[in-house]
Amino acid sequence: MVEIVPITAAHIESFHRTLDCVARERRYLSFVQAPPLDKTRAFILNNIHEGYPQFVALSAGEVVGWCDVTPKSGPIDARVGVLGMGLLPQFRHQGLGRRLMDATLEAAWAAGFSRVELTVYRGNTNAIRLYQKAGFLLKAVQPREAGNDGFDRTLLVMALALDSRH
Ligand SMILES: CC(C)(COP(=O)(O)OP(=O)(O)OC[C@H]1O[C@@H](n2cnc3c(N)ncnc32)[C@H](O)[C@@H]1OP(=O)(O)O)[C@@H](O)C(=O)NCCC(=O)NCCS
Repeated sequence: MVEIVPITAAHIESFHRTLDCVARERRYLSFVQAPPLDKTRAFILNNIHEGYPQFVALSAGEVVGWCDVTPKSGPIDARVGVLGMGLLPQFRHQGLGRRLMDATLEAAWAAGFSRVELTVYRGNTNAIRLYQKAGFLLKAVQPREAGNDGFDRTLLVMALALDSRH
């Protein structure tokens, strides 16, 4: 059984391992390994302190996935959040992405965000389908040079506004 719970300080090391594992797939995230553990710890503790939504999927007490919304940038965009998420490969395609996203978006609206944005590579069709089902709309396309692995890294910017949900 996999539980979806708000992240706590006790989850940080396990979260860091999962983040590193997904980053090293070199397909889905914009970085190829997790930031150092102390940076990750500072990021998580700040999210908890500020009340920014971050949920983790737990299997046998270990973090196997996450979803978070953090402010896009400075005060001007204070109510615009950026969503990031991922699951270990063996936990994909079981509806966990949807459960993580639903919990995190609900918390984001409750925390006062009015719009949530994300970026996703065009080749990441599984993630794009999930975002479309949740109501995210395509806002911009940023062409990128093709990599040598044939994966389409054209960057799509997608957004969901609180008002547009119904
Ligand atoms: C993107 C990601 C988080 C999506 O999570 P997920 O759990 O695979 O997504 P979902 O919950 O929507 O499930 C996806 C598919 O699983 C299947 N599925 C959903 N619920 C299911 C269930 N209860 N039982 C069996 N299969 C199920 C469905 O076929 C669904 O696809 P479809 O309905 O669109 O055809 C995950 O694939 C991932 O971690 N990818 C790598 C990292 C990444 O891409 N991060 C985002 C970067 S922008």
